[in-house]
Amino acid sequence: MDLFSRIAKSYDKIIPPFDLSTILGSITLVEDKPILDLGGGTGRVAVMFESHVNGCILIDRSFEMLSQAKRKSASIMLVQGVGETLPFRKDSIPQIFANDTLHHIKMQNETIEQCSKILSSQGLLIVREFDPKHWRTFFIILFEKILLFGSKFLSPQSLEEMCKKYNFTVEWERLTKSTYLLKAKKIA
Ligand SMILES: C[S@@+](CC[C@H](N)C(=O)[O-])C[C@H]1O[C@@H](n2cnc3c(N)ncnc32)[C@H](O)[C@@H]1O
Repeated sequence: MDLFSRIAKSYDKIIPPFDLSTILGSITLVEDKPILDLGGGTGRVAVMFESHVNGCILIDRSFEMLSQAKRKSASIMLVQGVGETLPFRKDSIPQIFANDTLHHIKMQNETIEQCSKILSSQGLLIVREFDPKHWRTFFIILFEKILLFGSKFLSPQSLEEMCKKYNFTVEWERLTKSTYLLKAKKIA
């Protein structure tokens, strides 16, 4: 059992709260379409999206994290799976959000490629991540190293380059000094 599965029951109490309002001003959601929460864990972010879009699909590797999400909302569609092989039809998903997830994914190139494959034309991949170049992220990197997470943090510039390889145009902005929001739009 991986670490997320072991801490699933207490995850929401351990992790700093997520504030959706801080990013809603920076993204344009397609309100009448669903969103895929990639690596959505306990569903704490997906439940917030529910009132802004027409349905949430949450995919996560950990069954135990998904069990926590199930307790939060009966309307979120839960899928156990990994970013590296997303079990959705080509061009079928209008928008994807990944908060604090990409650095936990081992095969990041494959995951971005999969996102590009399943997103519909002009679909949006939104990633919120920590910038490893900022000193504050150093403590997170150290903490996750001690816990043997095997995390791989990408700077916004590196993630931008990666996304451009898979048919995306990219914009990003800093949310705080150490976090960023990257929006990758699939080219038609
Ligand atoms: C730090 S948690 C973030 C959870 C959620 N996004 C949030 O903000 O609360 C990272 C999540 O990524 C999941 N994860 C790790 N590797 C994954 C992979 N390859 N594919 C899908 N999910 C993965 C973990 O199980 C965990 O739930």
